[in-house]
Amino acid sequence: MRILVVGGAGYIGSHTARVLRRAGLEVLIYDNLSTGFEFLAKGFEMIVGDVHDSKKLLEALKRSDAVMHFAANHYVGESMANPRKYFRNNVEGGISLLNAALDAGTKYVIFSSTCSVYGSPEKMPITEEYPRLPVNPYGISKVFFEQALESYDFAYGLKYASLRYFNACGADEGGEIGECHEPEPHLIPLALRAAGGFGGELQVYGTDYPTPDGTCIRDYTNVVDLAEAHVKALQHLMAGNPSFTVNLGTGEGSSVKQVLSTVEEVTGKKVPHKIVPRRPGDPPALVADPTKARQLLNWKTKRSLRDSVSTAWKWMQKQQTLAGV
Ligand SMILES: NC(=O)c1ccc[n+]([C@@H]2O[C@H](COP(=O)([O-])OP(=O)(O)OC[C@H]3O[C@@H](n4cnc5c(N)ncnc54)[C@H](O)[C@@H]3O)[C@@H](O)[C@H]2O)c1
Repeated sequence: MRILVVGGAGYIGSHTARVLRRAGLEVLIYDNLSTGFEFLAKGFEMIVGDVHDSKKLLEALKRSDAVMHFAANHYVGESMANPRKYFRNNVEGGISLLNAALDAGTKYVIFSSTCSVYGSPEKMPITEEYPRLPVNPYGISKVFFEQALESYDFAYGLKYASLRYFNACGADEGGEIGECHEPEPHLIPLALRAAGGFGGELQVYGTDYPTPDGTCIRDYTNVVDLAEAHVKALQHLMAGNPSFTVNLGTGEGSSVKQVLSTVEEVTGKKVPHKIVPRRPGDPPALVADPTKARQLLNWKTKRSLRDSVSTAWKWMQKQQTLAGV
């Protein structure tokens, strides 16, 4: 059985490709390398192509039994400044992929959704019943694609899993791949770079949130745990179950200050940082209720925040050594 991993040269897609291979599945990567990296796809067959290229995509889909769709732009701030880019890539590109999947006779689509579909909920933890109320074009683009999947299932019987990730973090335990975004928007790699002295001082956006220590709380979910959920989601659909949407998170929130102390514990170094004003649009807390994923898929996270910080640190140090820094 072969899985087409669209966006497989990116952070979460490349980790999932490895987990799929470990589960005995064949992987074909399709990526335009716009934010991904060739070395993350090393050891896999990769077609360099864009999701808008329906002809190329159709050929790749015809060779595959299911598709996992990771390809998207995903910077909230950028989506506010340049919504056109987000609707073009995440919505138009997504629909191009869905139409090619229909034409190829693909039966299953696993989609990288996000907690951004919820906007700024006041009640934690967040269950899947919470309404979709996105507050930025990135979140809107993901809600659109979720709804397109629902319509295509209703009309054409295309089975899907919408997996709403919370904050992905960590790296493959083998140290071969890890998080690689340019620019890097995520707290853990930025804090590690600051601690290691190969990134600038970390900016902490706001210490006056209504949270116990005043900093924002997020649900940091290990990337390999996330990848493993994709295998379970696919197996669930292949067993003949209906399409579904689930949160993928740990169910536990960590504040920015708690993340910084974990980074300091793991690295044995201080994280140079300065407190700056809040960023517009950052909700105080986003924490998943992962009960549905446990009940439906028998999935829960196995790796702690400390495990994620340790694997990310190991990978980052290796990158620095390779770069001769
Ligand atoms: N990183 C997170 O914490 C997080 C959280 C929630 C949801 N997500 C979602 O997970 C998915 C993967 O995120 P990531 O962090 O791995 O991002 P990433 O940027 O590392 O990976 C995305 C990959 O898709 C490819 N791509 C983008 N547009 C393409 C196009 N038009 N055609 C072909 N390939 C294209 C990129 O080159 C890249 O390899 C995204 O859909 C994102 O919205 C990520």
